[in-house]
Amino acid sequence: MLLRQPTSLGRSFLYGARADALPGRVMRFSTAPVARMTGKSPMQAEKQRQTTGVLPPYGPVGASAALAAKPGSQPKSTLFEHEFSLKGKVAMVSGGNRGLGLEMAMALAEAGARAVYCVDLPKNPSGEWTKVKEYLSRMQGRPADGSFEYISADVRNQEEMWKIGETIGNNEGRMDACVAAAGILRDHTDCLEYPARQFQDVLDVNVNGVLFTAQAAGRQMARFGNGGSIVLIASMSGSITNKDHAWISYNTSKSAVLQMTRSMACELGPRRIRVNSISPGYIYTHMTAAYLDPQPHLIDELSRSNPLGRLGRPDELRGVVTWLASDASTFCTGSDILVTGGHHAW
Ligand SMILES: NC(=O)c1ccc[n+]([C@@H]2O[C@H](COP(=O)([O-])OP(=O)(O)OC[C@H]3O[C@@H](n4cnc5c(N)ncnc54)[C@H](O)[C@@H]3O)[C@@H](O)[C@H]2O)c1
Repeated sequence: MLLRQPTSLGRSFLYGARADALPGRVMRFSTAPVARMTGKSPMQAEKQRQTTGVLPPYGPVGASAALAAKPGSQPKSTLFEHEFSLKGKVAMVSGGNRGLGLEMAMALAEAGARAVYCVDLPKNPSGEWTKVKEYLSRMQGRPADGSFEYISADVRNQEEMWKIGETIGNNEGRMDACVAAAGILRDHTDCLEYPARQFQDVLDVNVNGVLFTAQAAGRQMARFGNGGSIVLIASMSGSITNKDHAWISYNTSKSAVLQMTRSMACELGPRRIRVNSISPGYIYTHMTAAYLDPQPHLIDELSRSNPLGRLGRPDELRGVVTWLASDASTFCTGSDILVTGGHHAW
């Protein structure tokens, strides 16, 4: 049904068509490469554009580029140079002082982001954060003007988060990617005895804080009209219940993040702002260490709970966050990407 009526469906969902109408849009589109690529008349190429939206400025890529290439030309791979690259882009990452947030902020910087702003609670950044910044500054291939910044803020404060987004937008003139990684986990507590205050505390950070972070970046993405990618860090605990762990507030909060992802993605799609979530399984970080180290038997137990038979490392999220933040995932929105060592498959 949908395939038989591409144009009537396409009209209302075409991000290219909507994006063209946005003020201040930077991306330009030319039908010429598509015409070359397909060997069709410009009129047919225009139809293709209406069906699949705006090509990136460096397009066509992949098989389309091969078909458009002149015989004997010497093509260069675009996959890491363009699609996965964040060259010139600006990102903000909550929870970026340590753990998964810091790892993902670093990955975005390594992928070429011109500026990455890490937002976290402590007044001053941790030693880990400072070492990462210093390491990045020595890294070959990073842009000479690349910056890695720290901002102290509480994600529960909506006004403060919006202001931070605005300040980044004013400084950088754009906002391209956001990772909402700040989160908390409270101890094993019987669901029938769960105290209201503790439940509220977890939801305040893991749900409200994630929304306020996404808003802070999303408002700037809408302001500059270049689209963008928002990545909300959920957890497999939003889709499954961790066997033998009484984490009702955490699990509830992560389910909320999954639905927030879908709702925001649907509202923001027409503005070319994509929203996806990552659901990690058990990764060894400060958060999990605080829970596992006093109960070492749990490390074996949790390791046995996935087919790979081990806990994950923070660096094993570098690829997925870079993919979601970059043009390599431009048709992906409203999705949850499970990275669990296979835990969810059992
Ligand atoms: N480690 C895991 O196994 C795992 C698994 C699934 C999901 N996650 C999620 O990944 C994210 C990062 O977890 P992590 O393991 O790196 O934990 P972590 O405790 O090492 O890092 C969390 C960061 O969030 C910050 N934070 C907490 N409250 C904040 C607030 N009010 N305002 C600003 N910053 C605040 C902390 O200061 C900390 O730097 C969390 O959302 C967590 O729920 C972790």
